[in-house]
Amino acid sequence: MSNSLRLGIAGLGTVGAALVRIVQEKHDMLTARCGQSVVVTCVNARSKSKDRGVDLSNLTWIDDPVELAKSDDIDVYVELMGGDGDPAYSSVKAALENGKHVVTANKALLAKHGVELAEIAEQNGLLLNYEAAVAGGIPIIKVMRESLTANSVTRVFGILNGTCNYILTRMEDDGLSFEECLKDAQDLGFAEADPTFDIEGNDTAHKLSILASLAFGTRIAPDAIYLEGITKITIEDIEAARELGYRIKLLGVATKTPNGVESRVHPAMVPLGSAIAEIGGVTNAVSIEADTVGSLMMSGPGAGGDATASAVAGDICDIAKSKPGHQHGPALGQPAHSLLPHERSQMRAHEGGYFIRLTVQDKPGTMASIATRMAEQGISLESIVQRKHKKSGDEDSHAPIILVTHETTEHAINAALEGVKSDGRLVGHAQMIRIEKLT
Ligand code: HSE
Repeated sequence: MSNSLRLGIAGLGTVGAALVRIVQEKHDMLTARCGQSVVVTCVNARSKSKDRGVDLSNLTWIDDPVELAKSDDIDVYVELMGGDGDPAYSSVKAALENGKHVVTANKALLAKHGVELAEIAEQNGLLLNYEAAVAGGIPIIKVMRESLTANSVTRVFGILNGTCNYILTRMEDDGLSFEECLKDAQDLGFAEADPTFDIEGNDTAHKLSILASLAFGTRIAPDAIYLEGITKITIEDIEAARELGYRIKLLGVATKTPNGVESRVHPAMVPLGSAIAEIGGVTNAVSIEADTVGSLMMSGPGAGGDATASAVAGDICDIAKSKPGHQHGPALGQPAHSLLPHERSQMRAHEGGYFIRLTVQDKPGTMASIATRMAEQGISLESIVQRKHKKSGDEDSHAPIILVTHETTEHAINAALEGVKSDGRLVGHAQMIRIEKLT
């Protein structure tokens, strides 16, 4: 290693460009804090000619990310390309196999290959740092990996996707359509290259799979996560939620249960006035419940160039400050080979309250039949309301009905809704949104 810590950066999008600028502009401060100079030496991106607003003139451009990762001119490979396949996977692997520390913001890569990459890093005495992969600028990985070592975590949950939170917030605040809000989020640079990863919940699931592994000492298991995005949430749901004292958030939740780990990503009702309900816009929040510390929550910017680059830069500085043979804590909080298999608790066993919005034929007996179907499954109702009565002009009129249940199981709710459907009074789709119990 030379006197400087030399960075090779693959990917010069919003985050990569912000990182180059921060390392250049804050060079003296970083040198003082890290005990050595941190410099970018080599870069790679899809377009060489694009103006990124940063000076790349003194940097070596290496066309192949794998070659960049192996270059003798770098000490740390910074992977900011994204994607769970190549070149991200092959280049990170090549870096670790060639003695380079790695910093990545790539949650999809870690969700799919994190355990394998952590093992390679450990075998080679290298750091694999990924603070920016979860919740952007919030230093949650460091907290879970280092600060909460003496805790058994029971639940970790949060708002992990800035784009979804931005969309839900703007829909509620400004009465804008889902599409208008998504376009704004894309224009502002929050959204993934393929925004379906944001709005269908995959991005949240990738992040949750990493948090669940750190929380419970289990192997990363993105496929064990129940997944539902925000595309079916309507203004009617948002308004009904508010009238009932709730706000809708896309949550990622991982809970330790007697049946295994229940991991789920879905829109959830959270009480107005609760800390998590107040997290608006692109802001993320992560809440941890653990035996020793109790409950804690961290919030901050979950996306955006500077905020994410802040987390990447912090990871780089940790490498600069580490001494060979020391402070090389395992990437996943414990040696990768010692992670437990991920035992999945099935969603049908989920317990909680439910919000259900139905549009039904407005005929005598409809309300009674719905109440009967709920009672058959042992579901106790907290409220059942028929909202404004809208004549359709046809011989039947339609009525929106909103139910809120006391705590029950997902199995019971599904069975009750099947019963309601089979009674033939339902018009269209039955909207079901889980109510998240907060401590
Ligand atoms: N698209 C992500 C988000 C970026 O909106 O949160 C950070 O992972």
